[in-house]
Amino acid sequence: MASKQYDVVVIGAGPGGYIAAIRAAQLGFSTACIDEWKNASGGPAPGGTCTNVGCIPSKALLQSSEHYEHAGRHFGEHGIGLDKLSIDVKKMVGRKDTVVKQNNDGILYLFKKNKVAFFHGRGSFVKAASAEQGGGWEIAVAGAADETLVGRQVIVATGSSARALPGAPFDEETILSNDGALRIGAVPGKLGLIGSGVIGLEMGSVWRRLGAEVTILEALPTFLGAADAQVAKEAHKAFTKQGLKIELGVKVGEVSAAKKGRKEGVTVAYTDAKGAAQVLEVDKLIVSIGRVPNTTGLGAQAVGLKLDERGAVVVDAECRTNLPGVWAVGDVVRGPMLAHKAEEEGVAVAERIAGQHPHVDFNTVPWVIYTSPEIAWVGETEQQLQARGAAYKTGTFPFAANGRARALGDTTGLVKFLADAQTDRILGVHIVGPMASELIAEAVVAMEFKASSEDIARICHAHPSLGEATKEAALAVDKRTLNF
Ligand code: FAD
Ligand code: NAI
Repeated sequence: MASKQYDVVVIGAGPGGYIAAIRAAQLGFSTACIDEWKNASGGPAPGGTCTNVGCIPSKALLQSSEHYEHAGRHFGEHGIGLDKLSIDVKKMVGRKDTVVKQNNDGILYLFKKNKVAFFHGRGSFVKAASAEQGGGWEIAVAGAADETLVGRQVIVATGSSARALPGAPFDEETILSNDGALRIGAVPGKLGLIGSGVIGLEMGSVWRRLGAEVTILEALPTFLGAADAQVAKEAHKAFTKQGLKIELGVKVGEVSAAKKGRKEGVTVAYTDAKGAAQVLEVDKLIVSIGRVPNTTGLGAQAVGLKLDERGAVVVDAECRTNLPGVWAVGDVVRGPMLAHKAEEEGVAVAERIAGQHPHVDFNTVPWVIYTSPEIAWVGETEQQLQARGAAYKTGTFPFAANGRARALGDTTGLVKFLADAQTDRILGVHIVGPMASELIAEAVVAMEFKASSEDIARICHAHPSLGEATKEAALAVDKRTLNF
């Protein structure tokens, strides 16, 4: 079979892969992108975890459930009465599916627009391509039509999948990964989650808002250890007040589905923080204990592509693997498992192939948790600064003192600045509160431009706006807030 030859072949069309393919095509390379994700009718569904079972569908359900919560709990404060509030979960989930499809179609359109050849199927390394083939790597595509491509450069962007608890595989009916968690067709009476990380909090919030009794079991004794401790404490207080039950420091034991004469349901045996044996009985269980890189079936062994003990592709700081002309980006490599990190790496690799010198700084990759209140941060936390013995100043400002937050009726949380004690350079910004996901962008720009807290404090922010809380927190670093 004659092989099709490309300058760049990308395996995986998640945010890392599809963005890398578009950027490579923009730079003038003949580019192919292979992805195996299937929609409900078996057709292509590019966009990866993020588009199909991650960022996009979770935010669609978070938005719907937030509307429901506002209508039920907060409209009254605005003088708006509703006689009868109802919820049609199937319709809500259907809307989410439409949003996903719009994104899948959008990526197929972008491939056409940028002349990226798309192949639907599983891509795997076969062998090094011969000199007559122009060098590079032979990649087999196993799909509706089997093909062989040759890529002079190959970018692996195969992403990650949910990690299961040992002995409790996902059945996606009662023991759910993020996939099943986004397809629940009716509000469960009792919902359990293992892991109070990002997915646990976002998915737990969705189903709590819709009426489920939600319990999250977390192994670590500290809540949201990756976030700044002050922000995590504030968030924990808010979630507990909303009715999310979060048990820290537990040891999860046997997980058994459909036991004790019940047709449905899951029983989780665990030891609580005090060492006492406990049992949690729920209708459905979401397991959100982190993710594993997707490298099975990639043919890594066939060509000697180096993987680490977790199965992640080993790369250097510039996403180069141990094989010449083979790169890897996104969730399948080290670093934060975030869509925007994958995208930045994808762009950077395409530009490196073109001989450019881009740089991705993990310290300015923002984190956002789309709960209510939202949590967002960039840079170092106070505990990280303490651990490295840094001399720093802090400034905080509560949303309770911000006029726009009061008008919105959403005054939970604060903005916190951490700045170098001598130079005033911003080291980290941490937000818990309304629209933290949008507010953090200003802090990312500031850190990219190596701004000081004084720089932000002197910038004119519109009034009334939530952004004024950012300015005030910057002023607070120098103990001169104006409205608190
Ligand atoms: P993926 O998106 O996983 O894409 C990899 C693609 O490669 C998939 O389509 C897969 O089918 C395909 N593939 C794998 N192997 C092969 C093969 N051999 N041949 C062909 N195709 C293959 N991140 C954020 O930044 N913001 C969020 O709000 C957010 N929300 C999330 C919510 C949930 C519930 C989850 C699970 C994740 C969320 N994430 C979020 C994380 C984000 O989804 C990932 O970081 C991101 O998708 C990683 O992109 P990627 O391109 O590396 O991999
Ligand atoms: P996570 O790493 O965020 O959280 C996993 C949690 O599970 C941790 O707190 C961990 O201590 C706990 N845990 C691990 N094993 C356990 C066990 N046996 N018993 C009890 N608790 C246990 O992982 P999560 O939530 O699965 O999400 C995966 C990744 O997806 C995130 O790290 C993030 O990178 C990405 N994501 C990003 C989102 C965003 O940007 N808004 C939203 C959702 C996911």
